[in-house]
Amino acid sequence: MIKQAIIPLAGLGTRLLPLTSVFPKELLPINGKPGLEYILDECVDAGINEIIFIISKKKKLIKKYFYNDIFFKRILKKKKDKRLKYEYNKILKFKKKIKFVYQNKPLGTGDAVLKAKKFITGSHFLMLFPDDLIMKKNCSKDMITIHKKFKCSVMASMKVKKNNVNRWGIYSVNKKINKQNFLIKDVIEKPNINDAPSTNAVIGRYILPRNIFSKLKKQIKGKGGEIHITDSIRKLIFENYKFVGHNFAGKYLDCGTMNGYIKSSLEISKV
Ligand code: G1P
Repeated sequence: MIKQAIIPLAGLGTRLLPLTSVFPKELLPINGKPGLEYILDECVDAGINEIIFIISKKKKLIKKYFYNDIFFKRILKKKKDKRLKYEYNKILKFKKKIKFVYQNKPLGTGDAVLKAKKFITGSHFLMLFPDDLIMKKNCSKDMITIHKKFKCSVMASMKVKKNNVNRWGIYSVNKKINKQNFLIKDVIEKPNINDAPSTNAVIGRYILPRNIFSKLKKQIKGKGGEIHITDSIRKLIFENYKFVGHNFAGKYLDCGTMNGYIKSSLEISKV
């Protein structure tokens, strides 16, 4: 049973400057709701009951967002506002499920995930990247079903344009399992067009085995001088860990770039 999720939130958000110069990108509103809340809704709906946030000193506002009880109570005492009460209760529910760990140096996603090691108790855990919103269909829930059925690790996948492969982790496909799922042969972090084995890109939903931590501990820096989760996943694949790529059915919204962020508000209002 997968009951725990990790959400890396320590990134600097440079692709969204100037919006992120003082404000965490994950709290930026998308159609009237912080992007992070869409991710939390997905987790809770998928049956997750403990969520580990990896933040940094610079991202302390994220903790404050969930720990601002006194402020809410003071306002609610003065005026009985139904909407505010509803929002406050929702934040309280999230707060009970969240734990915080810190990654103060931006050394990459792999280094971030390693910080959460002490909290992970199960054989596998879910990881979600908040830049990647998937609407209409709960991708995490579907991936948990695949994990149970095939007894494997799972990563979300989406076809991207060939001239865009260097923005993503790219899969090499072993063989198709069925229409939506395939066995992963290899995964390469942000390859050049000529080195990309396919146009199937890694999207930020992962079900990973606990053993990833032993690989992350020894992981050396990769692309751009960062420690990438992709490089440690690769090592597990080469040790014959079964990894399945899942072509998710929902609507993908890229909230990590300025263009994508602007579009996502418009798109989400149509969903
Ligand atoms: C990260 C991963 C990359 C993946 C992407 C999905 O990149 O390193 O493999 O394709 O998330 O959003 P980032 O967006 O942090 O540059």
